[in-house]
Amino acid sequence: MHSDDAARLSPGEPHRISAGLRTRFAEEFGRDPDGVWFAPGRANLNGEHVDFHGGRCLPMALAHGTYVAAAPRQDGLLRLRTMDPELDAGVQTLSIAAVDAVVGGDAGGADDGEAPVITDVHTLVPGQVSGWTWYVAGTLWALARLGEDIPELTVPGGFGADLLICSTLPIGGGLSSSAALECSAMLAFVALATPLGAANPGTALDAALDDELRAHLAAACMRAEVEVVGAGTGGLDQTVSLRGRAGHVVSLDCRDFTVARLPADGLLAEHAFLAIDTRQAHWLGDGQFDDRRADSEAAMRMLGVDRLRDLLPERPEAGDVDAALARFDELAGGAGLAGDAEALEGRSTAACRRRLRHALTEMLRSEQLDRILTGDGLEPTTAAVEVGRILTAGHASMRDDAEVSFPAADALVETATGAGALGARLIGGGFGGSVLALVPRDREDAVIGAAARVCEEQGFTAPRFLHVEPSAPARVVG
Ligand code: GLA
Repeated sequence: MHSDDAARLSPGEPHRISAGLRTRFAEEFGRDPDGVWFAPGRANLNGEHVDFHGGRCLPMALAHGTYVAAAPRQDGLLRLRTMDPELDAGVQTLSIAAVDAVVGGDAGGADDGEAPVITDVHTLVPGQVSGWTWYVAGTLWALARLGEDIPELTVPGGFGADLLICSTLPIGGGLSSSAALECSAMLAFVALATPLGAANPGTALDAALDDELRAHLAAACMRAEVEVVGAGTGGLDQTVSLRGRAGHVVSLDCRDFTVARLPADGLLAEHAFLAIDTRQAHWLGDGQFDDRRADSEAAMRMLGVDRLRDLLPERPEAGDVDAALARFDELAGGAGLAGDAEALEGRSTAACRRRLRHALTEMLRSEQLDRILTGDGLEPTTAAVEVGRILTAGHASMRDDAEVSFPAADALVETATGAGALGARLIGGGFGGSVLALVPRDREDAVIGAAARVCEEQGFTAPRFLHVEPSAPARVVG
């Protein structure tokens, strides 16, 4: 056995995981689950902190993800348990009526001033992350809202469920463990609660969920995270989890959430994507992500657009980024930006300019990658070198302009490229999470060994490694 094998996180074998989950569910809840549903995490080649500005993102759905075994209840309660040892606190009971009441939605019971009379239920405070259970409760809440517009997704009043959850993703590893939880729970709720689920039992649901319905479900999962959990997600994670494709990179235009699926087989013939989980946990709800986003939004408002993507033409070039930055400088008062310059909405002008530059150059990199992966005539080795170069340029932008990187990620990017990776970058929201590297297949072990060594030498937590295989989207496991 290779010495680094223990640090490699396997996606496992879905049917075996499902069988184990079913057995545990029966022990926990005293009955069999109606099914098991899965949703993948993601790795994003490029397009961080731009989904909420209408930019393009290039994510892949992973083979790693979250599994939910579930059975319905008729009392409006959610009883949840996770098998993750770090998060498990036994069965947690939540009430969807209580979520309605505190989120102040348009649901029945929310406006009549009556507190839901339920015991053994968490106190719910909107906008405060009080744990992973919120993501699940929020998902059911958002599906119920969606069902008000789409009859086949109606959730009957009083619907509840027992859920047992396990994941092959590192929780907080910047690989969208939150979205995988939302999307797997979403499929379980669609299957158990809605007319669509009733009409399409078992694996028939996969085909019944066409791309349009999946786009609606992704938007609902995003709503759960924004409105119930209170984290500023922009829809990238939920979209690829529900709409990815095996063997493909998703090219997601966040202006209207249209997707193209670009084959990755040419790029991955001689190369592989490797995710390196720094094990510095990343949590979107802690405010730093929102702070960076607020800087870029202040720049956006000063520039008079509704989203930063509108500052660039359809097919942007580097000169278009320069022109937008020059416009910013003009409006911000020209010289002196680096010092204690005039603020935007009370924010640092220099910091807002850096966030703007990150967003614009990141959007440009996404368009370049989209062209390469669409097959603009480059032969695979040249394309891989170019993709690697763009990855590393993206990291510099995450570090210097978005300012969401951290020492372990910087060291791992440098080490991976030094050990033969064609490029590497921090992915996800930042402040923790994972680095993605593009590695020649015959250098994968060398990169893993070098990454493990540098962390040991520099006193960082030992990293873990995930082989990134572009995989199928959220689905019924059976
Ligand atoms: C998190 C958010 C996404 C996106 C990324 C950064 O994962 O949930 O919507 O903004 O950060 O690109």
